[in-house]
Amino acid sequence: AQSTRESMFIVNNFARDYFQNILKNHVDGRSIGMAYLRQRGFRDDIIEKFQVGYCTDSHDSLAQEALRLGYKKEFLVKTGVCYETDDHRLRDRFWGRIIFPVHTLSGKVVAFGGRVLSTQTKGIKVKYVNSPESEIYHKSSELYGIFFAKQAIVKQDRCFLVEGYTDVISMHQAGVENVVSSSGTALTPGQIRLIHRFTNNITVLYDGDVAGIKASLRGIDMLLEEGMNIKVCLLPDGEDPDSFARKHNSEGFQNFIRDHESDFIRFKTNLLMEDAGKDPIKRAELISDIVRSISVIPEAIVRDVYIKECSQQLRIEEKLLVAEVAKLREAQA
Ligand code: CTP
Ligand code: MN
Ligand code: MN
Ligand code: MN
Ligand code: MN
Repeated sequence: AQSTRESMFIVNNFARDYFQNILKNHVDGRSIGMAYLRQRGFRDDIIEKFQVGYCTDSHDSLAQEALRLGYKKEFLVKTGVCYETDDHRLRDRFWGRIIFPVHTLSGKVVAFGGRVLSTQTKGIKVKYVNSPESEIYHKSSELYGIFFAKQAIVKQDRCFLVEGYTDVISMHQAGVENVVSSSGTALTPGQIRLIHRFTNNITVLYDGDVAGIKASLRGIDMLLEEGMNIKVCLLPDGEDPDSFARKHNSEGFQNFIRDHESDFIRFKTNLLMEDAGKDPIKRAELISDIVRSISVIPEAIVRDVYIKECSQQLRIEEKLLVAEVAKLREAQA
C-alpha cells in the first residue's frame, strides 16, 4: 500500500497538472489566467518551466474532478489543495487564483502558492494563499525556486535571495537563475543550510522600501552565524526584483547589483547611523546591535576586519569594540 506521503505527492502532482491544463487549455484559464500572466509580461517558456497554473473560480472544480478520478478526500484535504466546509463539502483552496507550485530541492511538488488576479484584489481576498503545513510540507525548510536555481548557484558560486514568487520567476526570465525566495517570511536556519550546501555567498535583494529592510536585519545575523558572506543590494524606490528585472536585461540587472551592492555589516551600520543621528542613547543601541552582529561571525579574522572598519565608521575606539565582542562571545559560548 502507498504511504500517506506518497499519496500526498500523487495528489499534488495531479493538482499541478490540473492547474496547468486549466491555464493552457480551459477557456477561463486562457482568457483570465493566461491573459493576466501575459499582461504582466511572463513568457510562455517561463510559465511552463515553473509549472504555473490557474484555478477557476467555481470553488470546487478541482475537487469534483479529483473525486471523479478516484483520488481520496483524505489526501485532498491533507495536502491542502482542498478543504472541507462545516457541512462536509469539499472546496478548492485556491479558487480564482494563479498557481505557483513549490518544489523541493529534488523537484517534488510539496505545496502551492495562489495569487489573486489584480482585478479582484480590492480588499476581498488576501493577495496570496499558501498550502498549509503538512506531512510533506514544512515551510521553514523549503525555499521557493531552489530546484531551478541549484546548478546556477554552484556555477556562479552565489545565491540571490528575494522576497517573492514573481521575483524568482522574473529574474529567470531575465537570465539570472541563481535566485531563491523565502516567500515573504524571515529566513530560517534550515533554509540557510540549504543554500549553504551550494555556496558561501548570498546577496539579499531588498525591495526598495526601508521598513521591510529593518524587519529583516535580525534574520540576516543568522547568515553571519553560519559563516556566510552576505551582501545586500537595495533596489530603486518602489521596485522589487520582479519589476526591476522587467526593465533590464541580464547584463543591466547584474551591472546594477555590482554597482549598488554592499557588505551587510557596512550596510546595516550606515542604515542605523542615519536613523540614530546624534542621539546618544540611540547611538549606544546601534553600537551594541552592530557588536552583536559582529560577535556571531565564526572566523576571528573576519571579526577583526569588521571591528576595524566599524571603529572608523562609528568613531569608537577599536579596543572598546574588541572588548565588547569578546564579552558577547563569552556569553554565547
Ligand atoms: N506572501 C504571502 N502571503 C501574503 C503576501 C505575501 O505568502 N498575503 C509572500 C508570497 O510568497 C509573496 C511574497 O510574500 O511572493 C512577497 O510579497 P509581495 O511583495 O506582497 O508580493 P510579490 O511577490 O511582489 O507578488 P506580486 O508581484 O504578484 O504582487
Ligand atoms: Mn561555508
Ligand atoms: Mn514586498
Ligand atoms: Mn514584492
Ligand atoms: Mn511584485
